[in-house]
Amino acid sequence: MIILPGPASPNLGKCLAAELDTNLVPVYFKKFPDGESYVRIDGNVENQEVVIVQTTSPPQDERLMQLFLMSSAVKHNGAKTITAVLPYFAYSRQDKIFVPGEAFSVKTVVDILETCGVNQIISINSHSPAALSSLSIPVTDHSAIPLLAKHFKKNGIEGAVSLSMGKKGLAMSKEAAAIINGECDYIETRRDRHTGYVDIKEKPLRVKNKTVIFFDDIISSGGTMAKAVAYAKRQGAKKVYAACVHPLLIDDAREKIINNGAEEIVGTDTVPSQVSVVSVAPIIAKALVGLGV
Ligand code: R5P
Repeated sequence: MIILPGPASPNLGKCLAAELDTNLVPVYFKKFPDGESYVRIDGNVENQEVVIVQTTSPPQDERLMQLFLMSSAVKHNGAKTITAVLPYFAYSRQDKIFVPGEAFSVKTVVDILETCGVNQIISINSHSPAALSSLSIPVTDHSAIPLLAKHFKKNGIEGAVSLSMGKKGLAMSKEAAAIINGECDYIETRRDRHTGYVDIKEKPLRVKNKTVIFFDDIISSGGTMAKAVAYAKRQGAKKVYAACVHPLLIDDAREKIINNGAEEIVGTDTVPSQVSVVSVAPIIAKALVGLGV
């Protein structure tokens, strides 16, 4: 197996190669003055099982285009198989047609990847893994929540209360609580579909004088996390931490969360950022081994 680190995930690609004790093939990348992408594989991929690591966080379209170009170049150069690792899987939220006439975006992305020679996809905490099970090539999704929980445990924050956003996120706080050895619960959130405004519904939490960690898949604008942190503080929490798998942290998201009382924000390197202190390389390595790559 050889690893190709895409321009959006150079460090994660290196960590993965080290984790698997395998070779990296460099990719030369440039952008033309008109904005078009250029990609060149600088090594031999013939008859190799190639793993391309490219996150597709913002700017999603540019990073997807780079991934399409890398995949088709690898295919053209005779790779035996191609596995695309999309630590953050752009467009996975549009996993069905909600309103007649709109695009089935994630299907379109996967269809293009298949055309470019990709045999399978690995993603981390994508929006709705079940919805990805019927696409043209297999997609396997893995959770990085246990790694985030282990990070807190390692740093002495054991026995904290793990909280998630909404009941549908409860699986995440349960996963974390099993490692942190504390209670778990969720806060009631409601997002206005039109304005995107998030509201927190009153619900008593057993957090008085306790340390709390919120676990979420994504922090984007930071609005949800900032309100959740403020709510837990109002309910008497002593210290509140914010953890997420994909720290998109658009604009002033980080400041918003800290200004609302969070001690710290912890994220993974699915999206490189100032808070990406936990690497998902071990999960991806295990997934590749499990898939027999
Ligand atoms: C919602 O389904 C997700 O789990 C996140 O809570 C949400 O995407 C966060 O968005 P934002 O940071 O913009 O509030």
